[in-house]
Amino acid sequence: MLIRERYPTLGELQGKDFLSSAQITAEQTRELLELAADLKSGKLQIDLAGKTLGLIFSKASTRTRVSFSVAMARLGGQTLDLNPSVTQVGRGEPIADTARVLSEYLDVLAIRTFAQADLEKYAHWASIPVINALTDLEHPCQALADYQTLQENFGELKGLTLCYVGDGNNVAHSLMLCGALLGVNVRIGCPKGFEPDADVLKQASHIAAGKCLIEIVHDPETAAKGAHGLYTDVWASMGQEEEKEKREQSFDGWCLDQKLLDLAEPNAIVLHCLPAYRGLEISAELMESKASRIFDQAGNRLHAQQALLAALLGG
Ligand code: CP
Ligand code: NVA
Repeated sequence: MLIRERYPTLGELQGKDFLSSAQITAEQTRELLELAADLKSGKLQIDLAGKTLGLIFSKASTRTRVSFSVAMARLGGQTLDLNPSVTQVGRGEPIADTARVLSEYLDVLAIRTFAQADLEKYAHWASIPVINALTDLEHPCQALADYQTLQENFGELKGLTLCYVGDGNNVAHSLMLCGALLGVNVRIGCPKGFEPDADVLKQASHIAAGKCLIEIVHDPETAAKGAHGLYTDVWASMGQEEEKEKREQSFDGWCLDQKLLDLAEPNAIVLHCLPAYRGLEISAELMESKASRIFDQAGNRLHAQQALLAALLGG
């Protein structure tokens, strides 16, 4: 069966890029999560035999790299890891040339880089779908797995409240945009000066209008109150290593711990995109607690990205 017969709005994604959580519609996001769940349960199989995914990762990665490779293998396709240090990318070959050349060989590209503008440049020049595998601005593949995990635990996503405590970073941005599409209230708790990007906030609020709330608060307790999901990420993202110590001071008192979990809904779950620093942004106790779904969440990267690849490649 073709994807578009079962998931009508996913058919429109064939051949498209996925550069931002907000690049797809609410219905497409819901159908991607449904497809991810169907692939996970084994209800459905999709054949992408003969298709090749290329990975260009200019930053480190365990989960995204491995889950994309395994996702492609499970769908019958293959992956080439085009590490910039062993290709001409690392020696400065222009994106416009790399993107056009790789489009001659590959069927889809997943890119992890710094500037969103570089990702957009790849997408502009490539004639194949380009996927954002993390930039400084967004991590949309992560958000799909995160909401899949919330859905597994609560069923209906609409009306839930997800609290993210920590830095208003790429992960927070995609959670806000994807949450707004899905009707989830997203409450970001961060110290002053570490708020999400103002344009992303505006965009998420616009999507959320009349459906759910996107809020920024400046103390962790207010953020956690009544939440169904408590989420955090590192205080210093890749590329901010030099600010790590200074950031640790600014985030003092912002550790996601049992005290915050006690303020959330009784059945609240704990999420973290990983990698994590225990004792900084999250307590070791909470990471290993009964409420933690952190390793299910990492596992869902595989299923959410299989769904995404199948949609973009028209499986
Ligand atoms: N969460 C995440 O993207 O992990 P990696 O950096 O290991 O890919
Ligand atoms: N915000 C983190 C996420 C890592 C998966 C970073 O960009 O380093």
